[in-house]
Amino acid sequence: MRYSDDVIEEVRIRSDIVDVISQYVRLQKKGNSYFGLCPFHNERSPSFSVNREKQMYYCFGCGAGGNVYTFLMEYENYSFPEAVQYLARQAGVNLPVVEESREARAQADYKTSLLGIQKLAAGYYYYQLKQDHGAYAREYLQGRGLSAETIHQFGLGYAQKSGGGLYRYLKEKGYSDELLKDSGLFQADEQRGMYDKFWNRVIFPITDVQNRVIGFGGRLMGEGKPKYLNSPETKIFDKGRNLYGLSRARSSRRKNIIICEGYMDVISMHQAGFTNAVASLGTALTTGHSSLLRRYTQEVLMIYDSDEAGIKAALRGIPLLRAAGIHAKVVDLSPYKDPDEFIKAEGGEAFQERLSQAENSFLFQIRMLEREFDLEDPQGKTDFYRAVAQRLLEFTQDLERENYIAAIARRYQVEKQQLHKLVNNLALTGAGIPARQEVRGPNKRKEEAESAREKAQKLMLTWLVNKPEIFAEVSSYLKPEDFTTPLYRQVAAMLYEQQEKEGVFTPARIWNQFQDPEEQKAAASLLNAELPMESEKELGKAVTDTLLRILEDSLQQQRKKLEPGDMKALQKNMEKEMELKKMKAKFGNKLPNLPG
Ligand code: CTP
Ligand code: MN
Repeated sequence: MRYSDDVIEEVRIRSDIVDVISQYVRLQKKGNSYFGLCPFHNERSPSFSVNREKQMYYCFGCGAGGNVYTFLMEYENYSFPEAVQYLARQAGVNLPVVEESREARAQADYKTSLLGIQKLAAGYYYYQLKQDHGAYAREYLQGRGLSAETIHQFGLGYAQKSGGGLYRYLKEKGYSDELLKDSGLFQADEQRGMYDKFWNRVIFPITDVQNRVIGFGGRLMGEGKPKYLNSPETKIFDKGRNLYGLSRARSSRRKNIIICEGYMDVISMHQAGFTNAVASLGTALTTGHSSLLRRYTQEVLMIYDSDEAGIKAALRGIPLLRAAGIHAKVVDLSPYKDPDEFIKAEGGEAFQERLSQAENSFLFQIRMLEREFDLEDPQGKTDFYRAVAQRLLEFTQDLERENYIAAIARRYQVEKQQLHKLVNNLALTGAGIPARQEVRGPNKRKEEAESAREKAQKLMLTWLVNKPEIFAEVSSYLKPEDFTTPLYRQVAAMLYEQQEKEGVFTPARIWNQFQDPEEQKAAASLLNAELPMESEKELGKAVTDTLLRILEDSLQQQRKKLEPGDMKALQKNMEKEMELKKMKAKFGNKLPNLPG
């Protein structure tokens, strides 16, 4: 379904964002904005702001942000068209009946059909568990300590011993073999044709954050191999972007999210009141998982098996979580293997105790590093401290580094001053650099250049939105094409068009274009970035500086993309470079029509 841009915009304009969000969040006016407790992460002091003038919201705590549509999509889990319909109803706007392109309809239909199949299958398995032939499976689940209520809440089910039931059931519902094959619930071979993938297993439906069934895990009752069988990835089931239990955990009012490995672990924890538990789906943690988690929390408690494989998994996961801006802690459940076993043996209170003792992920990394050195040997000990100092160098904020130095000094009973000196020496002599590069990956320098480039572009867009008076001058030198980052280029193009056609920016309208949550978030942070506190006098210089930088980057990028031997294009590029040089020489450090 696709409404015209005009309709989308009309509905948005008629739905004041402060009024809409007030239905969900208590807002208080402070200066130009309204503030309240962010509904997208747990917090005690309000960092969630809504701006009537810009018709946007932004959380300075978790980075959630967007326009009135984004809010409803995030809060109510509406799809974009659903959000439009909801607001149109509230605002009394009659929506036209829209024709979709055949392709769009086919795509949407395909996904809807796959979701429909998963939903029917979940119902089917659930029903089987309640039947006479489900008795053994029910006993198995009871034997593992699950209450009837828990079984119901998680929609657990049973796939019979004699296969074929689900296939027949779905055929009766009229689904084609082709679609059923794509659902991942069946296998096919020449002799037998299509047959059920899951049989003689208890079934765990897997849902996405919107609580739609997207796949299944099935566990053998008793011993055998494979113990767990999972749906393969499909168009609607991406294992790297979904977490088991998240649809429930996201609305637990706890301050963190627990991530573990197993389906049973999640269920046991929820049953014991730890409704903030999720599990990755038989895969290692991915960046998709970490950015998903970041949308709901700032702190993640990691629980992995206490064996070598578990330690490795934790060590691999920590940097991903850290990169997403999450504070990670590692929970130790030894001597038990996993949360399920722990809770069964020791109960919920003891479990809570272990959660509160969770170890800071950096200290965990250091403790694991320690195992590689012989601390009895003076050389081994020295090498260990050097390695620790190198890791400490990775904290770029002084205060943070100081705190970690203090913590390490305490734990390893070395003098804080000594460790401090070691860190400083490493930093000064550069002795730490080769090792740091190793740790941070060879692409670090490239990434840094890239992020400096992005920063300049981002800053410029923020200026343009907040100081529209500079637009005329800036736009006579800088074109949207000069923004090399695709998202920024897109935003720039839209802002320029608004300004040129209408003489005013309407940043909130830009969100109508971004219907993917990750993109929305990037765009939101962009237009809500805090401006450095330049006085008007400095502003002109700062803008000029940034503008020149973006132009230079843009030329450089263009040059890199030239076909070898395309002399004409090279010539042109060099001419532009000359122009830029002249411009710099002519205007010094400030464009003539900028303030200051
Ligand atoms: N897993 C899997 N396939 C397997 C084994 C494990 O997908 N053959 C996944 C499952 O998600 C499982 C998790 O890895 O829940 C952890 O595996 P493991 O520790 O072996 O099992 P438990 O979760 O302890 O399972 P149970 O308590 O049911 O024995
Ligand atoms: Mn287990």
